[in-house]
Amino acid sequence: MDFNFEDKVVIVTGASSGIGAEAAKMFAQYKAKLCLVGRNESRLQNVAQHCELISGNVPLCLLLDLIQPGSCGEVVRKTIDKYKRLDILINCAGKLQMGTLHEEDIDVFDELMAINLRVPYFLTQLCLPHLIKTKGNIVNIGTSYLERYKPGFIPYVISKNGLDIFTKHAAMEVVTEGVRVNIIKPGVTRTNLIQNLNIDEGFVNYAYDNLIAELGLKKIFDPKEVAKLILLAASNLMPRMTGSSLKMDGAVIIA
Ligand SMILES: NC(=O)c1ccc[n+]([C@@H]2O[C@H](COP(=O)([O-])OP(=O)(O)OC[C@H]3O[C@@H](n4cnc5c(N)ncnc54)[C@H](OP(=O)(O)O)[C@@H]3O)[C@@H](O)[C@H]2O)c1
Repeated sequence: MDFNFEDKVVIVTGASSGIGAEAAKMFAQYKAKLCLVGRNESRLQNVAQHCELISGNVPLCLLLDLIQPGSCGEVVRKTIDKYKRLDILINCAGKLQMGTLHEEDIDVFDELMAINLRVPYFLTQLCLPHLIKTKGNIVNIGTSYLERYKPGFIPYVISKNGLDIFTKHAAMEVVTEGVRVNIIKPGVTRTNLIQNLNIDEGFVNYAYDNLIAELGLKKIFDPKEVAKLILLAASNLMPRMTGSSLKMDGAVIIA
């Protein structure tokens, strides 16, 4: 595909791992200037080194827990300080954790709403003045499992449904200002998302086997495949695509 992100300034949250890491590397391949955000220092540095090697541009690397007060502001402020402009925001940082109504506290719900919904919302607000100047765009990362009515998924699915609805409203709110907002909704993708549930390796494989069984394609996505779709949505090849929801699920048999 004929992507060209030369001189485009791109913020990628969740750049230290999985889908965000592959998106960052692919943006670098097409010469974007990057602000990479994550919490794991060694993984973020690995991604940054890879990006520098292929693009010649040294990325701005920010080690931040985005749900902490002040973090989102720091991302936007430091990006503008370094590059003086912003073209694209990729809201990829996210977390899966199981939570049920039988628990006695609301901590899981609060954390997932914070990282999966509040952070993209707040970053959108903070980035908007800069994106209006460049007629830029935002790509949110949702999930294809928006109607997964299985115990344990309530907080995650609510947060991602919120992000889905947010995307459509945001797109409408900023359409006249020339800013596009879209959402990519991947199916099961091999990243650290499930490993981060802190379950043993055997159960991780068991979980993947069960998820694969529900897929017509019988195959888990590689994060590079999702990254391609992110770049397509963010690119100038799609100048009129906004408010769109791009589902890539491998034909789910049981939603
Ligand atoms: N993998 C799938 O099957 C799948 C399917 C549908 C949608 N998604 C979505 O895709 C997105 C990327 O996930 P992934 O699959 O690539 O998982 P991943 O490998 O676990 O990556 C998640 C990323 O989010 C970052 N992150 C999480 N909490 C954060 C916080 N509080 N502050 C800053 N960064 C934070 C992580 O940073 P650190 O690792 O540095 O802490 C990491 O870079 C998520 O929004 C996820 O919901 C994934």
